[in-house]
Amino acid sequence: TWQMNTFVKDTVAALKEKIGDDRVLLGLSGGVDSTVTAVLLSKAIGKQLTCVFVDHGLMRKDEGDEVEAVFGPKGDFDLNFIRVNAGETYFKKLKGVTDPEQKRKIIGALFVEIFGAEAKKLTDEGGFKYMAQGTIYPDVVESGAGNGGAVIKSHHNVGGLPQEMVVELGFDQTPIEPLRDLFKDEVRKVGLELGIPRNLVFRQPFPGPGLGIRVVGEVTPEKVKITQEADAIYREELEKAGIDMGKGQFFAALSNLRSVGVMGDDRTYDYAVVLRGVITSDFMTAEAAEIPWSVLQTCMNRIINEVKGVNRVMYDLTSKPPGTIELE
Ligand code: XMP
Repeated sequence: TWQMNTFVKDTVAALKEKIGDDRVLLGLSGGVDSTVTAVLLSKAIGKQLTCVFVDHGLMRKDEGDEVEAVFGPKGDFDLNFIRVNAGETYFKKLKGVTDPEQKRKIIGALFVEIFGAEAKKLTDEGGFKYMAQGTIYPDVVESGAGNGGAVIKSHHNVGGLPQEMVVELGFDQTPIEPLRDLFKDEVRKVGLELGIPRNLVFRQPFPGPGLGIRVVGEVTPEKVKITQEADAIYREELEKAGIDMGKGQFFAALSNLRSVGVMGDDRTYDYAVVLRGVITSDFMTAEAAEIPWSVLQTCMNRIINEVKGVNRVMYDLTSKPPGTIELE
């Protein structure tokens, strides 16, 4: 639409003017907000922008490669892109850890450590003045008035560094946040306007700690792989069935339950996948989505047949409250 067109034009001009010849660092998570922020900045300052994508190995199926395809050297945008493949480090630190809060803390702290080390390397090269963030209007509101938006975002979301570190590394105190006044649907419109692929623009919301909090209990590479495969099948079937996933959040998680089943002549003792689908307008309250029985059955059949290590599929009926949307 022409409004978004104007937003893009005005924002790119304003960013150019503010940044001048300086360099900008952005933590790219692959989510819609940081993706659109990256493209806007790339239009404004090109190679003066460096994006660091810390791939924690806890993304959805193929997502790390999709981010690289868009922003890497073979992609369409003019910027510097650094992908840090940190999966092994994350799995090592998460080994044996089952408590959800502890898992979140480990994942958050590792991000700061890895992204911080990358930022240090870059700032040692010189020329960096600003950090950028994909903060959007609801993030600002969530944290109350003032400039607390960035604070909430940085510890609730993957993408930012603690303020002390920002200062220590010599960045300006105030991050660049071009989407600060926009709602999610407006961010998506801007994304389309900028020519970002639809699969990125309409991506399902995904928590910062990723599949780390969708694998209930200990996180292992095998369990993450199972969750990725089951989740991909689930979303593919929902799409095929024409279910509007934009009305909420739809994903597969892996329970910590193993149970007995039978496949052919053999007894199995495998994991139970939990399919979750909620309808929500604000993510504060939510109702389980009424997915047609036949669609759920197709998902069940495909997941059990195609994903090794799964012999049971469950649909989660819990609303929020008393449940949360995620399982951990
Ligand atoms: P819950 O599970 O609290 O989730 O009902 C509400 C919404 O927030 C997302 N979520 C997170 N997003 N970092 C994030 O960026 C997190 O640590 C996190 N935990 C939950 C969740 O996916 C849902 O959209």
